Amino acid sequence: MAYIPEEKIQDIKDQLDIVNIISDYIELKPSGQNYIGLCPFHNEKTPSFTVSRSKGIFHCFGCGVGGDAITFIMKKENMNYVEAIHFLADKLGIFLDTGNVDKELYEHRKTLLRINEEAKYYFFQQLLTYQLPKEYLSNRGLDKSVVNKFMLGYAPDGFDNLLNYFKGKNVKTEDLLELGLIKKSANGHLYDAYRNRLIFPITNNRKEVIGFGGRTLVDDRAKYINSPESIVYHKSKNLYGVTNFNSISKKDKVVIVEGYVDVISLYNYGIDYCVASLGTALTKEQAKLISRYTKNIYLCYDGDSAGQSATQRAIEIFKEIDIQANVIELPEQLDPDDYIKKYGKESFETLITNSLNSILYNYTKLLKNYDLDDINSKTEFLNELVKMLNEIDNKLIQDEYLIRFSKDLDINIDSIKSELSKQKSYSKTPVKDTPKVNRVNNNKLIFLESIKYYLFNNDIEFRSKILNSGNFLEEETEYFTPTIIFIEENGLTIDTTLDDIKELDGNSNIKKIIETTLKTQNRDYYNNKENAIRFLNSLKRHVLIMERDKLKEQLILLQENEELSESLKKSYTDLANEIFKINSLLKSI
Ligand code: CTP
Ligand code: MN
Repeated sequence: MAYIPEEKIQDIKDQLDIVNIISDYIELKPSGQNYIGLCPFHNEKTPSFTVSRSKGIFHCFGCGVGGDAITFIMKKENMNYVEAIHFLADKLGIFLDTGNVDKELYEHRKTLLRINEEAKYYFFQQLLTYQLPKEYLSNRGLDKSVVNKFMLGYAPDGFDNLLNYFKGKNVKTEDLLELGLIKKSANGHLYDAYRNRLIFPITNNRKEVIGFGGRTLVDDRAKYINSPESIVYHKSKNLYGVTNFNSISKKDKVVIVEGYVDVISLYNYGIDYCVASLGTALTKEQAKLISRYTKNIYLCYDGDSAGQSATQRAIEIFKEIDIQANVIELPEQLDPDDYIKKYGKESFETLITNSLNSILYNYTKLLKNYDLDDINSKTEFLNELVKMLNEIDNKLIQDEYLIRFSKDLDINIDSIKSELSKQKSYSKTPVKDTPKVNRVNNNKLIFLESIKYYLFNNDIEFRSKILNSGNFLEEETEYFTPTIIFIEENGLTIDTTLDDIKELDGNSNIKKIIETTLKTQNRDYYNNKENAIRFLNSLKRHVLIMERDKLKEQLILLQENEELSESLKKSYTDLANEIFKINSLLKSI
């Protein structure tokens, strides 16, 4: 997305009224210098969500979320910073001249989006009017809730329904053509593009209707018709099922499927964390978009060969952005829609739980393709296996799989190792300019692996030792324990200075801090427990100070409320106690 000049952002911030912005989502009542209401980020009966107009901030004393108007929109609409700025600029009627967008184009885009929005309502209304689409949906086991959730529609049979609808509505024919809603025949006649089709409106994460997919209800030659590329619709950058993004980030996982119907059908059965790429192979842009909501990726393509190659491509795409995807395999050549109808929600959830990460998935597939009793086949198999292992950049993880595979196959580990180094010496180009990037990626992996180590080995004794050694906050122990275990097991040293940590902004969580501070993985420093403890103490101090400053801010905010309800009074004493506790903890470190 284009660069937005700093002055523009300031301009938006100056014009923003946080109370107005938030009032679009919840009801706010004045209370002293502040406004209060029921928190939109958690369930509550008495209001603890406080907004300060003069400070331009909000804070919930129930669940702890807080920030300014931009953060509010980012959280509520699941947008990144730039998107939130655009969203707010639109609301304020501020034109963002972002350099490569001229005003005319900007206005044109708005016009096209308005037409799409109108078309969406038209199709939606038709669906409620006609019997055919309703019957079709009910035959497929889909009920009203999905129609409303995904704003499904129906384009009736006939060549000029939509055309007539837009007549006299001051809509230009060229615009309808550009959007692909109508078409022009060779002899110049205009006609509706979607006829007798179930309509799937496609939205982006700014809730704009950017296009439509239409499935035939009469086995037309073209099963699906989709919007053409235009200034509003870029299929490689968008996904179907954006309305699920909220629950995707809440549940911290996503299932990626092939088609519209899969997304809807799974939703119908309570699996509300799916998206589909729009009739194409998954692109890097789409993968990045998904990764903003969760890093736990489950690929669930159809069981046919097309689905399998789509799976491989998606694995590669996610690998490029440092994410290891998991693969859900559907039996009997079923697609997700068929599967959930046949076996139900719980069974599908079991498939998710039992899914393999991409390395194990490929290993299993490799095993199926070769006959290990045949010496030639076995050699080829090992060749492929080594190739696969060589693609794992992280040495520690590579070792882990190496051990696992050699055990599983009952093959001497050294012979695989020697193959590995042989292949590597001429398949890998020497790393020269990229060590920095690799190191950061490695650290991330080490961190994740350390957590995995803890989960697999569940070293209770060590955990309790850590828990009793200091008054760690719950959140800290969650990350610290596995990290320490990992440090000890692998003899890693962490020479951390507080400066490293200070560079991070106040929002950063502990995981991030550890990621950036786990810089050294020098294996010469085996068993350096003191370093680890020193690191943890400085980290602990930092986290506590951060925590205390946040609480202090909240205390001040509360003081500005007119009258405190019982629950807010309790928040007040809780806050004061918490601050007191932290202060004494800090003294003890
Ligand atoms: N698709 C498309 N154009 C086509 C065929 C497919 O855009 N001509 C896309 C659609 O997004 C579709 C997805 O690819 O949802 C998967 O296609 P398919 O498996 O054939 O359709 P289903 O989604 O399974 O639809 P249905 O269950 O109604 O057959
Ligand atoms: Mn299907």
